[in-house]
Amino acid sequence: MCGIMGYLGPKAATPILLDGLRRLEYRGYDSAGIAVHDGTSLSVAKAEGKLDRLVGQLDVQPLVGSYGIGHTRWATHGPPSDRNAHPHTNPDGEVAVVHNGIIENFTALKEELIAKGAAFASDTDTEVIAHLVAEEYDGDLLEAVRRAVRRAEGAYALVAMSKEEPGRIVAVRMISPLVVGVGDGEMFLASDIPAVLHHTRSFAVIDNGEMVDLSPDGWHIETLDGTAVERDLLEVDWDAEQAERGGYPHFMLKEIFEQPAAATETLSGRITEDGTVDLDGVDWPEGLVENLDRIWITACGTAFHAGLVGKEIFERLLRVPTEAAYAHEMRYRDPIITGTTMTLAISQSGETADTLAAANLAKERGSRLLALTNVVGSTLSRDADDVLFTRAGPEISVASTKAYLTMLVGEYLLALALGERRGAFDASDHAELVEALRHLPVKIEEALERDAEVAEVADRFIGHEDVYFIGRGLDNAVAMEGSLKMKEISYIHSEAMPAGELKHGTLALVTEGTPVVVVLTQSDVYDKTVSAIQEVKARGAFVVAVAFEDDGEVAKHADEVLRIPRVPDILSPVVSIVPLQLLAYHVASARGHDIDQPRNLAKSVTVE
Ligand code: G6P
Repeated sequence: MCGIMGYLGPKAATPILLDGLRRLEYRGYDSAGIAVHDGTSLSVAKAEGKLDRLVGQLDVQPLVGSYGIGHTRWATHGPPSDRNAHPHTNPDGEVAVVHNGIIENFTALKEELIAKGAAFASDTDTEVIAHLVAEEYDGDLLEAVRRAVRRAEGAYALVAMSKEEPGRIVAVRMISPLVVGVGDGEMFLASDIPAVLHHTRSFAVIDNGEMVDLSPDGWHIETLDGTAVERDLLEVDWDAEQAERGGYPHFMLKEIFEQPAAATETLSGRITEDGTVDLDGVDWPEGLVENLDRIWITACGTAFHAGLVGKEIFERLLRVPTEAAYAHEMRYRDPIITGTTMTLAISQSGETADTLAAANLAKERGSRLLALTNVVGSTLSRDADDVLFTRAGPEISVASTKAYLTMLVGEYLLALALGERRGAFDASDHAELVEALRHLPVKIEEALERDAEVAEVADRFIGHEDVYFIGRGLDNAVAMEGSLKMKEISYIHSEAMPAGELKHGTLALVTEGTPVVVVLTQSDVYDKTVSAIQEVKARGAFVVAVAFEDDGEVAKHADEVLRIPRVPDILSPVVSIVPLQLLAYHVASARGHDIDQPRNLAKSVTVE
């Protein structure tokens, strides 16, 4: 994530930049910094920690000038620290850069620059960009940035200033969001509209692959190849509260809609050009993966449900026995763990007390500990031998959505990485899976486009007090998460179970009109799940099925069908969860609940 800002106008830049960064802190807050030009010199101030530390520093040593750039960081490359905080400059301090996202080929670029004698002051990928822009600079910042960006691969947005060109700021959007706020004689750059909405209501939204050039003469947009772009201004009429949530009524909905971008970040740089998986932060010792005889997955809540998907896919793809255990159970279970065991601890926060305890128990017993977490610098990430960060960005809503979905994407990457090492894949199967994985963000986007259809179906749930979710295999894992979403925010009693288990007890509770949600994406057990639909239909249930868009059968059995785009069966959880998140959201919204902070729950449970 990370938040970026820019200001150019007649006012003092520092307070405007700091205020914008405060509003962008939800995107990350492990360090912050600004660079300000006073017409002669370009000065930088930055500090590890929350924005207040930077504010304190600037109180003592103010930066004066009427244009500048700013950044609030959420660490990806290099731990939170003063030296890794943005802005980054080239060694002579001629170019300052702030950046959001990842420069995927930064290692190769850094090596190239070091070979030419460059010295680096941080561990970040961003600093490479400052070097590249300085290297390419010949008196025109726009052209220097254009040439630098051509050399840098990845999904990112960046803003640059040069000491040599007072009054000019150049920015680029390569997937990561960026807007220009157009005020009266002043201009703003920001990662989102709310950051500067109290200064202006007129915005130019920068599209992917576009550059924007700000100067005292005004602003203009052009494509990377230099074609000028006309952009109509967007007039925004959100109120203050809506603005904080990016125009969405709740953080949960905002986070659900952020999932295509979040999945893009999770995948970014982790699939190489030849289609193999390269996981930063994971460095398995020789022989470990080859000799693996058991995998434990441990987690709580939504992260545990991601673990249920992990169990299915690891066993299917790797043929390694895998157990998914609630962390609060595993820690008191005397689990069978040896030196040839790998333990995957999954946690959005990386701070859940039970998950930390189970993870450390596994480590003490000789298991290699791998963390799948969203928070850089979290306790779990520090305790683990290897870490795969989900890069979902800060998740505010207590009910987890984008963190869950990126955990799933992380697990597919892990399964591929492990399988490659174990020689588990047939080349064409591997290539097909990698290709499908690359297309997942688009598929998630397509699933979100059906939000209005989900909202209509949600109306049918509002008056009920009991709901059931069923599925088989991977569909059961998704049903578990769909059911949890429903109960935690709608307060409707909800249970999930494997479709075949229904007849062993729960069927007694199904009467006329009882809503039953069926996840129906796995072709190998399709007919078996249809039998379960018949069983509940025979008792009068109202059946809602989640099924692929090309499924011509399902409408014969279910009362309503929530369609999802076609992906290979094994990847279905990443898209089938989307309508279930939306369903829970719309039911809770119609029932008038506090969606982002449901009663009795907490985002992070750091007690046992
Ligand atoms: C709490 C949250 C859940 C979350 C669980 C595990 O119960 O309300 O949304 O799934 O903790 O949290 P973690 O940070 O370990 O993923």
